Amino acid sequence: MTIGIDKIAFYTPNYVLDLVALAKARGDEPDKYTIGIGQDHQAVVPNFEDVVTMGANAAAKIITHEDRDAIDEVIFATESGIDNSKSGALYIQQLLQLSEFIRTIEVKQACYAGTYALMQARDYVATHPGRRVLVIASDIARYGLETSGEVTQGAGAVAMIVSENPKIASINNDSVYMSRQVSDFWRPIDREEALVDGHLSTAIYKEMFLLLWQRYKQQNHLQINQFAGFAFHLPYTKMGKKALDQIMSEATAQQQQRLALNLTASQRFSREVGNLYTGSVYLSLLSLLSHAANLKAGEKLAIFSYGSGAEAELYSVTLQPGFENYVPAKLTQDMLLKRQTLSVGEYEVFFKAQHFNSHIDTKTDAITRSKTFQFLGWQDGERL
Ligand code: CAA
Repeated sequence: MTIGIDKIAFYTPNYVLDLVALAKARGDEPDKYTIGIGQDHQAVVPNFEDVVTMGANAAAKIITHEDRDAIDEVIFATESGIDNSKSGALYIQQLLQLSEFIRTIEVKQACYAGTYALMQARDYVATHPGRRVLVIASDIARYGLETSGEVTQGAGAVAMIVSENPKIASINNDSVYMSRQVSDFWRPIDREEALVDGHLSTAIYKEMFLLLWQRYKQQNHLQINQFAGFAFHLPYTKMGKKALDQIMSEATAQQQQRLALNLTASQRFSREVGNLYTGSVYLSLLSLLSHAANLKAGEKLAIFSYGSGAEAELYSVTLQPGFENYVPAKLTQDMLLKRQTLSVGEYEVFFKAQHFNSHIDTKTDAITRSKTFQFLGWQDGERL
């Protein structure tokens, strides 16, 4: 049975920060942000949106009546959960008017959890032919104003429907994965901003990719020349290059050119929105599918998922016939182009207004507010 990603969609808020302006405000060289780190813009979240509404807004773009009848599970991956007990998936179920006779669950392991969700979805469909699973990976990457991680913030959600006979890509049964307790990034239960040892996290990411690549090749008898491209978790776009450069010498000269071209294709959306944590690797996949003109049905893409703390997985997907007709390239590009640019001062106001239990802004963009799900705020500590 072929199982995989039948549909995919991305949602990010309507507000964006230019990172050249941020660099100037912080007294940094703009080239450090745009070249050294590889980020041009960053999504900014207004306080009438949260991980639930972003996730529901992404899913609303792809769900049909047919999906509604076939979805048995909503798996919600996030490390920006809205409650320490209750799953954000319950709110998603309500917003999308899904059946009550389904499973709803939230999963967490830093940026890796979206991949766990996808693998669970694949396994569920394998034992329940004809049924579908809605996977949502939604996060707000917050490091704090004037921190070294600030340039790598971002936000958004990727939604995917996993089914039999998928229209976009089948998920191959070739995963290798690893886990190791490391203190490279964490967020204490009472904090809204992550704590991070940025250089350690970059080193562990690179090391886990290399270890898993060796293991993957050995287990699956595949070589780098057999992949049309790589989609990496992109906490910042330079990270993907740092990882891939470690194994590039294994490829022929022609293949090196193709992989480099397709790496650039996979980085384009992330350059514009920043880190999505759980959704980032799937935004990278969507970007690759949207911008690489050389991909063909039947070709394999390698996917590397990393979550600090740390856990990583490497696997492949195979492109399905006609996949290009189901990739929302133009819709995603248009959404990014239409965003409103904020000044650094406005971004700082938005950033501070995101706090738990803060009041909800009532005077923001009427167009955004009328077309998408909105977060209404808190009452007695409960998300409304
Ligand atoms: N022109 C061009 N390049 C410049 C430059 C200039 N004027 N000035 C500096 N650079 C380059 C540096 O040479 C460096 O390049 P290399 O990494 O290739 O050597 C790059 O810009 C960054 O410079 P620094 O390392 O000095 O920057 P920094 O100390 O401010 O830290 C960071 C950068 C580690 C990414 C930091 O932003 C951070 O901690 N981010 C959050 C953590 C993170 O994203 N970790 C990634 C792996 S963890 C993960 O993947 C999970 C997750 O999502 C968090």
